[in-house]
Amino acid sequence: MTQRIKDYYRPVYHISPPSGWMNDPNGLIQFRGKYHVFYQHYPYAPKDGPKHWGHVISDDLVHWERLPIALTPDTDYEKGCWSGSAVNNHDELTLIYTAHDESRKPKQVQCIASSVDGVNFKKHEKNPVISGPPEGFGEDFRDPKVFRYGEWWYLVVGCTKNNEGGILLYGSKDLLSWDCFGRICQSSGNQGTMWECPDLFELEGTWVLLCSPMNMEGSKCIFISGTMDFRPHEKRGLFIQENWQDVDYGLDFYAPQTFIDDRGRRILIGWMDMWNSEYITCQNGWIGALTFPRELYREHGVIRQRPVEEVSLLRKTCFWNGNISLTSGQRGNLKAVSGSSMEIAFTIPGTAKGSVSLCLRACEDRRKKTLLVYDFDSRTFIIDKRQAGAGKPDYKKIPIDADEKITVHILVDKSSVEFFLSGRAVSCRIYPDPSWVFYDIFSDGDDMVIPDLRIYELG
Ligand code: FRU
Repeated sequence: MTQRIKDYYRPVYHISPPSGWMNDPNGLIQFRGKYHVFYQHYPYAPKDGPKHWGHVISDDLVHWERLPIALTPDTDYEKGCWSGSAVNNHDELTLIYTAHDESRKPKQVQCIASSVDGVNFKKHEKNPVISGPPEGFGEDFRDPKVFRYGEWWYLVVGCTKNNEGGILLYGSKDLLSWDCFGRICQSSGNQGTMWECPDLFELEGTWVLLCSPMNMEGSKCIFISGTMDFRPHEKRGLFIQENWQDVDYGLDFYAPQTFIDDRGRRILIGWMDMWNSEYITCQNGWIGALTFPRELYREHGVIRQRPVEEVSLLRKTCFWNGNISLTSGQRGNLKAVSGSSMEIAFTIPGTAKGSVSLCLRACEDRRKKTLLVYDFDSRTFIIDKRQAGAGKPDYKKIPIDADEKITVHILVDKSSVEFFLSGRAVSCRIYPDPSWVFYDIFSDGDDMVIPDLRIYELG
C-alpha cells in the first residue's frame, strides 16, 4: 500500500486519501458488523485521474483502517471504475459500479464485483450486467445504487433525457440479469440536466430520493420526499415528488450516499470538497476528504442531520461543559480553549436582541478566523470565511425558519468545519495557518447566558 503523506491539513478523524485524489464516497455498508466505506480514488497523483475504489473499514464509524484498493480499472470495458454501491449478497460483499470509457459507445455501463473476505474483489465474468442506457436516453448513465425491497433487488441509476436529469429503476432477482422498470422520476423543469449519485430509501415512513443534479441553479444535492410505488410484476415503478430541500448549505459538499446500519440508523456521508474547487492541499500530494457520518431524521416534515453519536468516542480534553455568561460587547470569553480538531455544541435562546457569534480557528488577535454569527432579528446565521485563511473567501446566509431555541453542533478537523444548525448541515473546508487555534464566543446585543456550552478536543 502507498505511504500515507503527512500534512498539517490532513484531518484527524475524517476519511481522506493516503495520497493522490479522492472524490465521492461509494459502497457504504455495514458488512459482518464492520462499517465499510469505499471512495473514488486516483492513487498516483493529486488530480482527477482514472478512478479506482479506495477502501477503509471501521468498528465504530470514527476510527478507520485502510485496506488495499478494492477496484482498479484493468479490464477492456473500463478506463475508470466510477461511483456505485454495495450490498450483502448471500454473505458476499458485492459492489455495483459504473465502468466508464470515454472512447466507447455507450461510454457508461454497470458492472459488479464481489468478495468473500470483504477485502479482495473479483469482477464478474458477465460484466457489464447493464450494457447501456435504454433507447432514447443520453449517454450519461451512472452511479448505480442497489437495495433490497421485498423479493427484489432494485437499482436506481442517474440518467438524462432531453436535457433533464432523472432516475431509472431496474429490478433483478440475482444481481446479474436486470430489467428496466423505466424512468421513475425526473427534473420538474429546474432541477438540473443529469442526476448524479442517486439514492432511494425510506426515512420514518416516507420515501426519499437523494441526488446530486448537474447544472441546477442554487443547489448541488437535494433530498426529494415523495411516494414510491414499486410494481415489479408489471416491470415498472413510479416516484411522485412531493417536496425537495437542499442537503447541505456549504460550498464543499457533493455526491452524498446513505446506508442503514444494524441499529436502524440511516447514515449519510458526502464528499467534503467539490469539482473545480481550489484544492489547497494539492501541493502537499493529496486532495479530498469525506464528511463526518451523519444520522438523518425528520422534524416537522423536513429531513435534518446530526453527527453520529460515536463522536463521543473521540473526545479528549474537555475545555468547557456548562453555562457561560456573555456580557454585551465583551470579547475573550474562551481564553483557555485552543486546538485544531474540536467539537463545540451549545443552544441559542429563542429570542434576544442583536447577535451571538462564535469565532473559530482564529489567530491570536482574532483578526483571522472563521466566523459563525446568529442574528436574532432576521433569524439568520451567517458563515463568514472571508478571513479564514487560504481558499475561496465565502460568505453565506442561512435563514432559520423557526421560533424555538436553536441547537448548534460544530465539528472542526484541521482543514474542515461542519456546522449543524438545528439539524441543517453546512460543510466547509478551511485552510487556516497552523498557529490559528483560538476560539471566542460573544454577544453583540443582549447580555445572555448560554446554558450548555460543551467544547472538547477530538482525536
Ligand atoms: C460525481 C461523479 C459521479 C461519477 C464520479 C466519477 O462526483 O461525477 O457521477 O461516477 O464522480 O469520479
